[in-house]
Amino acid sequence: MSYSPGLKDVVAAETRLSHVDGEAGKLVIAGHPLEEIAERATYEEMIQLVWQGSLPTAAVLDRFAGELAACRALSGASLGILRNAATERRPVIDAVRMAVASLPSTDDESDARRLVAGLPPVVAAYWRLLQGEEPVEPDPGLGHVANLLYMLYGENPGDDRVRALTTYLNTVIDHGMNASTFTARVIVSTRSDFISAVTGAIGALKGPLHGGAPGPVISMLEAIGDVGNAESYLREKLESGERLMGFGHAVYRVRDPRADVLSRAARSFFADEHDLYTLALHVEKTAIKLLEEYKPGRRLQTNVEFYTALLLKGLGLHPDLFTPMFAVGRVAGWTAHCIEQRAVDRIYRPGSVYTGEMTRQWTPLGPR
Ligand code: ACO
Repeated sequence: MSYSPGLKDVVAAETRLSHVDGEAGKLVIAGHPLEEIAERATYEEMIQLVWQGSLPTAAVLDRFAGELAACRALSGASLGILRNAATERRPVIDAVRMAVASLPSTDDESDARRLVAGLPPVVAAYWRLLQGEEPVEPDPGLGHVANLLYMLYGENPGDDRVRALTTYLNTVIDHGMNASTFTARVIVSTRSDFISAVTGAIGALKGPLHGGAPGPVISMLEAIGDVGNAESYLREKLESGERLMGFGHAVYRVRDPRADVLSRAARSFFADEHDLYTLALHVEKTAIKLLEEYKPGRRLQTNVEFYTALLLKGLGLHPDLFTPMFAVGRVAGWTAHCIEQRAVDRIYRPGSVYTGEMTRQWTPLGPR
């Protein structure tokens, strides 16, 4: 056995959920090229696509909407956890992880429904509690994404915002064997439950090398402030060995196809030529030029997080909500992988190469 750091080039699963072609910059979700489906489908259709393998009929979709609505109310236990977390001002993603862990598990695939339906009310309720406001009950007349915005802000969000957020959630629904998905599959491989798997996946997602990047993207753009400062700011970061958030990817060696979809969705929320979007275009161009200069041949390009930051900011979401929103989108993919993994029913148990000593002898505490 040879050691592959980060399991690079190790194939750990077979999946029909998504195909990532890092050289061509292509992403296929259950047979559909991302750019063909992300801006058209509802999120409920995408959930059905990854869970069932094909787009649902109108009758199936109608029934599914009812099933999701029935799982939206938060239990007293989950709400209590969120209230306690809010008094301690815990980060949103940590509170979400705690509340998700408290969702009831029946240890069957209906856990998947409770997770997908439960994440938006958890995020929205916690956000409101942090602002000193009471949670808003879901509106049974609204779909999944409209309800999320409604529960966050207590007002009807309007079609444009719902469409843009839907496009975002569709875009991040699944992405091959990324770190959080792998985490979920490892947990399910022990025959543990889906609630545990998604709790672990959220823990993996929040790291700044994975789903924690978009907040720092906005901080970077705000710190740059003006196109004239971009090059000197980015050079300084690279000279001091820092990574530029929103650039580089473990698989893509060309521009992340999700960046184009999200860039299109974000544009309409920025109308002024001196706005954040215009600054972002300039920063992106400059960053790619400098990354080639400082890391020649590494082919570091824009990743999904750069335009995620722009789109979510354009939608009026606070950066503390960015990683939780990623979880709201990815949870359908995580649970679909859990379903696949349960069918495989094989525990993950990779090897390790021991690099320690072999012949140490016991020394009693006193003389140590
Ligand atoms: N800025 C500066 N240098 C970078 C960047 C970056 N954004 N990304 C990679 N590099 C450098 C590395 O330091 C390394 O340099 P070295 O060989 O001189 O040490 C080289 O490029 C290759 O880097 P790796 O870490 O091997 O690249 P890998 O493909 O494993 O990492 C990762 C991918 C973690 C995403 C990385 O590009 C990164 O840290 N990006 C910034 C954080 C970010 O945007 N994360 C979101 C990713 S998308 C997602 O997970 C949903």
